[in-house]
Amino acid sequence: MRDRNDLKKEVRSLLKERGAIMLAHNYQRDEVQETADLTGDSLALSQAAAESDAKVIVFCGVHFMAESAAILSPDKTVILPRLDAGCPMADMITPEDLIKEKAKRPGVPVVAYVNTSAAVKALSDICCTSANAVRVVDSLPSERVYMIPDKNLSHYVSLTSRKKMEWWQGFCPTHERLKPAEVIKAKEENPGAVFVCHPECSPEVVSLADHVCSTSGMYKYASASKAKTIIVGTEMGILYKLKKENPEKKFILASKSLICPNMKLTALEDVAEALKEMKNIVTVPADVRAKAKEALDKMLKVPRDSSS
Ligand code: 13P
Ligand code: SF4
Repeated sequence: MRDRNDLKKEVRSLLKERGAIMLAHNYQRDEVQETADLTGDSLALSQAAAESDAKVIVFCGVHFMAESAAILSPDKTVILPRLDAGCPMADMITPEDLIKEKAKRPGVPVVAYVNTSAAVKALSDICCTSANAVRVVDSLPSERVYMIPDKNLSHYVSLTSRKKMEWWQGFCPTHERLKPAEVIKAKEENPGAVFVCHPECSPEVVSLADHVCSTSGMYKYASASKAKTIIVGTEMGILYKLKKENPEKKFILASKSLICPNMKLTALEDVAEALKEMKNIVTVPADVRAKAKEALDKMLKVPRDSSS
C-alpha cells in the first residue's frame, strides 16, 4: 500500500495541475475528507460546485451528487472517481414509475429528494435535500404534494408540514438498518447522552431522536449541544469531522451497521487515477439537463431550514 501522505500530496498537485477542486461528502473515507478542498452535505456541495471558478470538479460522493454538479455547471468537467458509486435509494424510482404516479395525481407538484437520477429530476417540479425539505414542501402554493423517493424523509416532513402529502416507498438501505432497540440500548448505556439522527432513518428511530437533521446540521448541533455524549444515527463517515471539531465530546455510532458501501468505494488512488487520465466524467444529456436544472435552481432559491 502506498504511503498515504505521498498519495495526498500527489492528489493535491494533480488538482493544481488540472485547475480542479475536490469536493467530498461527509460520509467519505477519512483520508478523502482530509485531502478535499471542501466537505459538506448534498446541498452545500451542489452550491459549491455551482459557485466555484474551477474548470474541473472532482466529486467524491455518489453518482446523483456528481450528476447534480454536472447539471448546475454545464461548462465544467465533473469527475466521479468511482463511476460504480451509486445510491440504491436513487435507483428505487425510475422515470417510468414517476410518469405513472404523476398521471394518478394531475396538477400535484412533485418534490424530488436530490437522491434521484437526472431523468427523474427532469420530471419533477422542485428538488430538496434533507437540509431544506420542510421549507421546500411548505414553499409550494398547492395544498397537495407528492414526494419522492424516500418514504422516511417524506414521513418526517409530513410531521410538521401543513400540506396533504403522499410519497413513493423508497428508502436508504443503510439508514433503514438502524433499529429502535439499538438506540434504546445506546441510551440506556449512556445516561445523559442525546441522540441525533438523519431523516432517512425510520419513523420509529426518528421518534427517539432529540434532534433530526442533515449531515451538516449534525456538526452545528454537536458543537452547540451541552451534552458530553452524543449518539449518532447516520453513516459512520460523519464521525471523522464530529470528533475533530469536538475533541472534548464523545460520539457513539448508534449501530455498527451504519456504513454505506457506495460512499466507501472512493479511495485516494481512484482520485489520483481519475485526475491523471481525466476519466470517469459525468455528463447529462442537454434536454434532461435543462429540465432537471429548473428543479434544482428552484430548490437553491429556498433557504436551508434553521438548525438543519
Ligand atoms: P445529506 O444531504 O444530509 O448530506 O445526505 C445525503 C445522503 O445521501 C444521506 O444518506
Ligand atoms: Fe444513498 Fe443511503 Fe448511501 Fe446516502 S447513505 S448515498 S441515501 S445509500
